[in-house]
Order: sequence, then C-alpha cells, then structure tokens
Amino acid sequence: MSVVGNRPAGRDGWAQPTHSAAPAHETEGPAAAGAPATTSASFHEMWRDLAPIGRNTTTNGYRRYAWTEADADCRTWFKEQAQTRGLTYEVDRNGNQWAWLGDPTAGNAVVTGSHLDSVPDGGAFDGPLGVVSSFAALDELRARGAHPTKPLAIVNFGDEEGARFGLACVGSRLTAGQLTTDQAHQLRDADGLSLPQAMERAGYDPDAIGPDPERLARIGAFVELHIEQGRALADTNDAVGVASAIWPHGRWRFDFHGEANHAGTTRIEDRRDPMLTYANTVLAARKKARIAGALATFGKVSVEPNGVNAIASLVRGWLDSRAADEETLAAVVGEIERAALERGERDGVDVRVTRESFTPVVEFAHDLRDRLSGLLGGVPVLPTGAGHDAGILSASVPTAMLFVRNPTGVSHSPAETAGEDDCLAGVAALAEVLEGLACH
Ligand code: GLV
Ligand code: MN
Ligand code: MN
Repeated sequence: MSVVGNRPAGRDGWAQPTHSAAPAHETEGPAAAGAPATTSASFHEMWRDLAPIGRNTTTNGYRRYAWTEADADCRTWFKEQAQTRGLTYEVDRNGNQWAWLGDPTAGNAVVTGSHLDSVPDGGAFDGPLGVVSSFAALDELRARGAHPTKPLAIVNFGDEEGARFGLACVGSRLTAGQLTTDQAHQLRDADGLSLPQAMERAGYDPDAIGPDPERLARIGAFVELHIEQGRALADTNDAVGVASAIWPHGRWRFDFHGEANHAGTTRIEDRRDPMLTYANTVLAARKKARIAGALATFGKVSVEPNGVNAIASLVRGWLDSRAADEETLAAVVGEIERAALERGERDGVDVRVTRESFTPVVEFAHDLRDRLSGLLGGVPVLPTGAGHDAGILSASVPTAMLFVRNPTGVSHSPAETAGEDDCLAGVAALAEVLEGLACH
C-alpha cells in the first residue's frame, strides 16, 4: 500500500491521486473480474470518478441532495461499482442501494457502507469515504484470497444528511421503522415538494416506502466507516479509531412572529421585530450550551418578507443541539426555549418552538466494538456528536463504526480533509474487520 502522507486538500478535498487506475484484470475471489489491480488503485479510481459529481465550482463544496440530479449520478456510480465487481445490485423499498457478495437472503450478513449525499456545500469525505472504502475493502479481500462464509453487502443509505427535507437519516430511519410512512409523506423541501413527489420524479416508487424488518433481520452486523468529525485522533499515532457512542441530538424549529413595517418610518418603540428576538435567542443558545458543556447551533434561518427596508414579519431559525446525555440536552433546549419566550415577550414577538427530529443516545454494541478494537490492535475508542445511519440501525442490529483521522477536525465544509495514507489505512482496517466478521 502506498503511503503519501497528509497534504492540503485538492479540488476534490483530498490529496490528488498519484496512482493511475490499473487495468482491469481477471481474478477469482470476493470481488469479480473488472476491479483494478490493487486496493489503492481501486480506491483512487473510485475517488476520481465520484469527485466531480455535485461539486459547486464556485464554493468547491458538494451539493448532493436527496433525489436530485447529483444524487442520481452518485447512485449510478454506486450501481456501476457493484456491477463491475459482479455483485448483486438491488434498491430496497426506501431507495437505499445494496451491493451483495453472496446470497442476500441467506441471513447473518455482514454489511458495511455509508451515504453519498451531502450537507449544503459539504466536504468530499462525509459519507463517500465510507462507501468508497467499502468497495476498496472488498477488493482488498479479493486480493488476499479471503473466502467469506457469510454474505457481505455494501449499502448506500439515502438522504442521510437531511439537507433537502430537514430530517436526517431518512433512508435508514424508514427501514428501521423509526420514521413512519405517514411521517415521511409529510416531509417537504423548500419548494414545497413532498418526499414522495421527489422520489417519484427520480423514478422511484414512493408507495413502497416503509419499515423493512425482514431486511434488517438478515443482517448479522453493520460496520460504517466514516471520516472523524473532530480532532480526537489528530494528535495520536492512530489513523483509525472505533466509535463508542453517539451523543443524543435533535433539530428544533423556532418561529418568531412579529409585524412587518417600514424600516425608515417605524419608531423603535412601535416595532415588533422578530429579528431582535431571534438574535438574542442565538446568543442565549451559545451561552446555555457553553455552560452545560453541550452544543447548540443556529445554522439555518429564513426571513419573511426578506426585504432590506422592511422589518421582518417572520424569522424562522433551526436549532441543532447535542449533548453527552439526554438529560443535559433536554435542559439546554428547555433553557434556550425559555430565553426565546422571555425575549419575545419584551419584543412583542410571538415565539413557537417545534421539535422536528430527535435521536436518542446511541451506545454501540460493546462486544462488537471490543472485537473491532481487538482486530485492529487496540485502536482508540471514541464518542462522537455527529449522527449516522449506524446510530439508527443500532437499535435493530449489532452495529459499529470506524473513524478515519481528520487532521483539522473540520467537517460539513469544503475544507473537510483526510490524508491519503490515513484513508488507505482505513480501507485496510475495514478489510481486516470484514475478514474477521465474515470469513471466520
Ligand atoms: C450528520 O452528519 C449530523 O450529525 O447532522
Ligand atoms: Mn454529515
Ligand atoms: Mn456522514
């Protein structure tokens, strides 16, 4: 395996490939004919092909939103990777893509994968690193001549980030029954298009969506590899870590209703300005979270009528809050809500708060976590504040996560990056884990 070391992010957010794709060749083993000759070449080839899809050339960030053209291109890429390797390709009732080595119906399957969609102007790694590494790990197993005794699958979960419909992990939530069909039908994008309408326009059958317990029952273990979204590994000698837990987190919509009026003629004392209440709520959120050791972020806001010379009638802000435990999270969000209501009263602004989603704390299966850490020679075990499909699945299936070192810790940004050697170490670790779980 080639080692190049950490380098600044290139146009695709990652050190530019130094390996040209090796010619396809015929080899017996887990991955069928057509895959490149080495794992590293395979990884580079996939990364190169995926890199331009959905990238905004002005910001250099990715805009791969569910059921859009960029999403369709990512899905085509996934299907081609499956077919190139002779894997059995399928799309489940919720639009998640699967690539199977072995009999998909046999049960006790070992599944890996992640997602290909992005946040607005996201980085190249959050999601794709897990999917690309999964295919590369399969190639690595083939190169080792490993013989899985259990079915192996790679999955691309749809709409993990929730950038379009406001709810994260829609594909895995539906599959796990944590989002009902009715609730899914209520989801709307910014243009008012419903999730079923968007799925239908993308060529999928929205009437099929719903829980898929039979599919989950066929999974013996799910392992998601992901770029680390913090700096816990950055100053260690470990390129890879294992997840212990995911902090509980949620999204709350704050509606601040005021009164539209003229910016140049309305006396200060006559105003009912929701922007003022919103601004104070943002400051309160920061303070309450800091005091509690939690996190609170208003990262999305919409304003009506959104005119420079008019006092707003409505400001809508979305709060993302996370904490190490549910009690702290509930307390922090409660305090932010109280601060908003109190300030609203002073400003003559009506405040309404709606919880749009909530994901409880996830404690990954201890035996699987310890087994992975052992297989990888005792790598660090760390919690994360980021949500993942693995967290959703963990309620139904033994689930684990591998994190690949992120030298800056930056994520959900075009600046997100990881070293080439660390990515390949991640592939090697995933291959080790898959071999340990599926071949023995
Ligand atoms: C997903 O990446 C999230 O944590 O919001
Ligand atoms: Mn993310
Ligand atoms: Mn992710």
